[in-house]
Amino acid sequence: MARLSARTGDLHASPVREMLNVSLRPGAISFAGGLPSPETFAGLDLPPPPRDLLQYGPTEGEPPLCERIAAELRDLGVDTTAERVMILAGSQQGIDLAAKLVVDPGATVAVEAPAYLAALQVFRFFGARFSTLDRADPASGWGGDATPRLAYVTPTFQNPTGGCWSAQERAALAQACQAHEVILFEDDPYRDLVYEDCERTPICAGMSGGGSWIYQGSFSKTVAPGLRLGFLTASEDLFPLLVRLKQASDLHTNRLSQWMVLQYLQDPGRAARMEGVRALYRRKRDLFDAALTRHLGNLASWTTPPGGLFFWVALAGGVDPQGLLTRALERGVLFTPGSHFMADGGACPAIRLNFSLAAPGDVERGLAVIGDLLRERATA
Ligand SMILES: Cc1ncc(COP(=O)(O)O)c(C=O)c1O
Repeated sequence: MARLSARTGDLHASPVREMLNVSLRPGAISFAGGLPSPETFAGLDLPPPPRDLLQYGPTEGEPPLCERIAAELRDLGVDTTAERVMILAGSQQGIDLAAKLVVDPGATVAVEAPAYLAALQVFRFFGARFSTLDRADPASGWGGDATPRLAYVTPTFQNPTGGCWSAQERAALAQACQAHEVILFEDDPYRDLVYEDCERTPICAGMSGGGSWIYQGSFSKTVAPGLRLGFLTASEDLFPLLVRLKQASDLHTNRLSQWMVLQYLQDPGRAARMEGVRALYRRKRDLFDAALTRHLGNLASWTTPPGGLFFWVALAGGVDPQGLLTRALERGVLFTPGSHFMADGGACPAIRLNFSLAAPGDVERGLAVIGDLLRERATA
């Protein structure tokens, strides 16, 4: 028997990545993943990339891309420079690096309930224990050994709920992290997918007076996820350590993807393209909302998300989402049960439905299946 590290004892397959395989079967209707609509992908009509990009590059990333990102972050109020921006192989890598930096077995990470499942998975892998972060009163329960090392949040169009924090909630978490010396880890991949006016100022913009923080973003939802490109910036105490961890992990991010993303960021048509992406998703969201009302109207409740890619739907009447999924899968329909997003793995009578990928006809058919299954159960 091969001897493996103790941490592989907590190595589980991602339920969403597993379902991705099922969703590729012909005829399947998937509301399960967080896949952007291919209609939104940036074009490939670019000039040939410079040949020197085939050489190894800097760990932090291509300097012109870092400069561009730093300038855009400063416009949002984030205290950073190009020298404190690192390009990631997708923002999922930032979660891995942050966990390596902060989490020892038994260390506490404060997370929202529910929270992004693939972040929970990484923190768990490094041995984290979790506490629940109450955004109305973030420091509640903090003090002594109960103080978490890290507070991981997605305050803008959260995955899975689509919710957005108010200015007061953002300020309260910044103050709580500063007062208790908790590292703030702000994950912000959805900020540009905004359909209603919302407070979107990064929380770390309120931490220029001190404290340790990591802020990350992604080009997966605005350019194309297959390029695998994200970025992070961090307070001065943490940034050099994150660079060393990245060195050990993969030396540097793919230089061709970095060059492509820089072309998209510099493209004079970028703002118009993003307006088009938002308009498309707003239409898809509204269509999904109307179909939800038609098929699940009195069987579930939800809040229309002001941004992002998901509806978080609470099921009425004690329905078990996992059992519902098993029956929906038999009819070729996929979604993600709420319990996957709970740090304690406990029951959660909600499901996450992605609205960006499915075509209108599939939305109608898929939600009709879920509605029928719920009604069958109600009358059984
Ligand atoms: C909250 C959150 N963080 C990080 C990621 C990872 O994104 P990527 O690695 O594609 O940048 C996702 C992907 O869906 C996400 O929802």
